[in-house]
Amino acid sequence: MKSPHPDIERVLIPTHEIQTRIAQLGKQITQDYKGESLVLVCVLKGAFLFMADLCRHIDLPVNTEFMAISSYGHATKSSGVVRILKDLNECIEDRNVLIVEDIVDTGLTLSYLVDLLATRHPRSLKVCTLCSKPQCHQREVKIDYCGFELPSEFAVGYGLDFKDFYRNLPFIGILKPIMYENDL
Ligand code: IMP
Repeated sequence: MKSPHPDIERVLIPTHEIQTRIAQLGKQITQDYKGESLVLVCVLKGAFLFMADLCRHIDLPVNTEFMAISSYGHATKSSGVVRILKDLNECIEDRNVLIVEDIVDTGLTLSYLVDLLATRHPRSLKVCTLCSKPQCHQREVKIDYCGFELPSEFAVGYGLDFKDFYRNLPFIGILKPIMYENDL
């Protein structure tokens, strides 16, 4: 199959599969929280597209919150350094909170975030990630909703970036090795 982008070696998850899976996740979340309201916490920047599509498939009273956390900087390996760049605007005490992540790699970022938000006494705290790389997990993090399991390769597209590029690709794929030449 022809690559849909000159920098992409191969597509891992095509656009229609992403959209179908997100609709399923939204339906599942709607059923699980029936009769309740929900605070969706988007982890910026990577989860912005996922959050935008997911929330439109959740048929509940929903608040949207955004949090920015640094993890990789400009490299493709986890630094383990987690820093809050932007905190929530609203209090989450006694609220049902669902963290919306783009990808769980080592799990360091998510485990930090879960621990942090738990100290704010939400009524419930769950995690929804579009992608997970189970072979890369270094921390045990409970993932309540997962869109796709990926191999332990660096992926871009649909919010996932390399040097802050490629987030706008509507599919998830693997870059050509030449794109990393100065980073590995
Ligand atoms: P972790 O702390 O190693 O789990 O990394 C989580 C964060 O690293 C994610 O929220 C992404 O921003 C970034 N990340 C991890 N794997 C990838 C990848 O394959 N492509 C792009 N970003 C990634």
